[in-house]
Amino acid sequence: MTRFSVLFYAFFTIITACSDYEDLVKTHIETKINKTADPCTDFYAHVCPTDLPYNQTVADRLRQLYQQEAAKFHTKHDEFLGHLRAYTLSFQKIVDDLLGVCDIPGDHKSQAIGFVNRTTGIEFSESLPCEFISYTFGMKASGKNPKMLFGEPLEMYFYGPRELEFSKSELGQRLSRNVENFFETFQGEVQKKFLETPWLINKNATEIYLEFLKSNFSLFQKTEKIIREWDMIFETLKNYSTNCKPNNTIPSFVCAMEELNKLIKEEARPSMEFYMFGQGLDALNLDDQILINRANQFLTLTNNKARMLGGFGFIVAHEIMHTFYSSENNDNILKKYWTNSSQCVRKQYAATCREFGQEQCFFSGTMMTNEEDGSDLAAIRVIYSDFEKNYLHNEKSDIAGVTPQQMFFYSLASLWCTDSQYSLGTLGSHSDPYIRVNALLAQMDEFKESFQCAEDSRMVRSKVEHCEIFGSDAPQTRKSSHNALLTDST
Ligand SMILES: *[C@@H]1O[C@H](CO)[C@@H](O)[C@H](O)[C@H]1NC(C)=O
Ligand SMILES: *[C@@H]1O[C@H](CO)[C@@H](O)[C@H](O)[C@H]1NC(C)=O
Ligand SMILES: *[C@@H]1O[C@H](CO)[C@@H](O)[C@H](O)[C@H]1NC(C)=O
Ligand SMILES: *[C@@H]1O[C@H](CO)[C@@H](O)[C@H](O)[C@H]1NC(C)=O
Ligand SMILES: *[C@@H]1O[C@H](CO)[C@@H](O)[C@H](O)[C@H]1NC(C)=O
Ligand SMILES: *[C@@H]1O[C@H](CO)[C@@H](O)[C@H](O)[C@H]1NC(C)=O
Ligand SMILES: *[C@@H]1O[C@H](CO)[C@@H](O)[C@H](O)[C@H]1NC(C)=O
Ligand SMILES: *[C@@H]1O[C@H](CO)[C@@H](O)[C@H](O)[C@H]1NC(C)=O
Repeated sequence: MTRFSVLFYAFFTIITACSDYEDLVKTHIETKINKTADPCTDFYAHVCPTDLPYNQTVADRLRQLYQQEAAKFHTKHDEFLGHLRAYTLSFQKIVDDLLGVCDIPGDHKSQAIGFVNRTTGIEFSESLPCEFISYTFGMKASGKNPKMLFGEPLEMYFYGPRELEFSKSELGQRLSRNVENFFETFQGEVQKKFLETPWLINKNATEIYLEFLKSNFSLFQKTEKIIREWDMIFETLKNYSTNCKPNNTIPSFVCAMEELNKLIKEEARPSMEFYMFGQGLDALNLDDQILINRANQFLTLTNNKARMLGGFGFIVAHEIMHTFYSSENNDNILKKYWTNSSQCVRKQYAATCREFGQEQCFFSGTMMTNEEDGSDLAAIRVIYSDFEKNYLHNEKSDIAGVTPQQMFFYSLASLWCTDSQYSLGTLGSHSDPYIRVNALLAQMDEFKESFQCAEDSRMVRSKVEHCEIFGSDAPQTRKSSHNALLTDST
């Protein structure tokens, strides 16, 4: 009898544990919105208050949630990796150690210089004083997370073995299934968009796009084979831990890092697989395959479809659309059928930058960010129409005063709240999060309607021409007699 109830209890614990994760997007909408900022004036400012610490953003809290779950698994590598991790986090100690090592005559100074060089990219001459070298490291490292300082590989080794255990767990499998189901269903929606797209029809390219989507494009999944092979790779870590004997000093840290880097080189695996151990709010497109990282997968645990599609759905849609939006940086067979939409995308991002950019606006609206900007814009239309057609009629809001349509947009924007320190890290190929959010929503007439924005509000005014890449309102593209890339401006 007692035994039975223990089992019964255990059974229920598992069920509740699964549906019991905090809905971080919901919490954000309920507690973090800046109600003083008018959504129609500046949506990013409304959703992302300026005083939100990075570790309370949805993006970072998702990462924390994943780490907290992953930390429940134990592996035989924990001790070795734990030493390394603790060391990278105790940055004050690293500075002290650098000072100590550097002052010892002989090879030590060049070891210290080498370490600072590798982590900060600054090259020092041997003649510089140790204090200067150590404190420069301190200045560079201060406030950065270890990932930025020590690079992706180190992070991968911290979490790799645990992530493998996580993958085998009930929760891990459930998240993977959720992602897979969403991907399959959503692909159907993308197909429908392709079928409606005038320029695809006029170029006889619809079949080619559909075929590519169906046969040449997939979601990266951790198959049992991949998990087994990585188990073997991490197995070799045992040898390294014996060689290096981490003892919480710079020399042992350098030894371990060198051994780990050797492991990566010797056991090189397809790059997509490396990323499955990454920790940020990351998703990735390698042209024929996309990967959605664990932290993001927790977004699938919500019952609210508006939040699910606006948040997780948008991330998936963005990654899929990378393959089908052809900018300079994108080179696959689809490119020769492409209708060049880069102009309307650029115009919008440039206009949003002028309106909201201030000093944060460096690259938005240039060709540098066009691949990302265009993928965003293609994505928001497909995911929103999926939401509107297939989910909205059944959708009830669970936050007073927020409609399901508004919820969709809140969810999307909340994932991009950041602080300037981290947003700088995304510069280069991505527009600043501030610009990304406001450019996208300016383009969406559905946003204007759901927040009942006046025509002369800043968000609405900042819309330039209607820019649609796929779908029935996308351009026609004239026949290829004079110039295959010439497009109608409709
Ligand atoms: C909230 O919005 C108001 C109006 O735009 C602005 O003055 C204020 O600085 C914002 N506060 C935060 C914390 O973002
Ligand atoms: C967030 O950061 C602040 C200060 O940077 C720190 O005091 C707080 O403990 C952190 N919270 C979490 C959940 O990490
Ligand atoms: C510092 O880094 C540069 C380039 O990455 C390299 O050429 C140089 O040899 C390094 N110096 C030391 C002392 O490691
Ligand atoms: C598309 O196919 C039709 C017949 O299948 C053909 O008449 C037409 O010229 C083709 N158009 C292009 C742009 O290749
Ligand atoms: C798509 O996949 C099929 C079957 O795997 C292959 O034969 C074809 O070459 C691929 N096409 C492209 C464009 O990669
Ligand atoms: C570990 O080291 C031992 C002895 O040096 C060697 O025989 C073995 O092949 C190594 N194992 C792996 C997985 O690298
Ligand atoms: C720590 O490890 C390094 C490298 O393995 C070694 O050179 C050093 O002597 C060790 N220091 C102590 C205090 O054990
Ligand atoms: C699209 O057109 C712009 C100029 O209008 C040009 O700079 C760009 O190279 C074109 N992109 C592609 C993929 O052809």
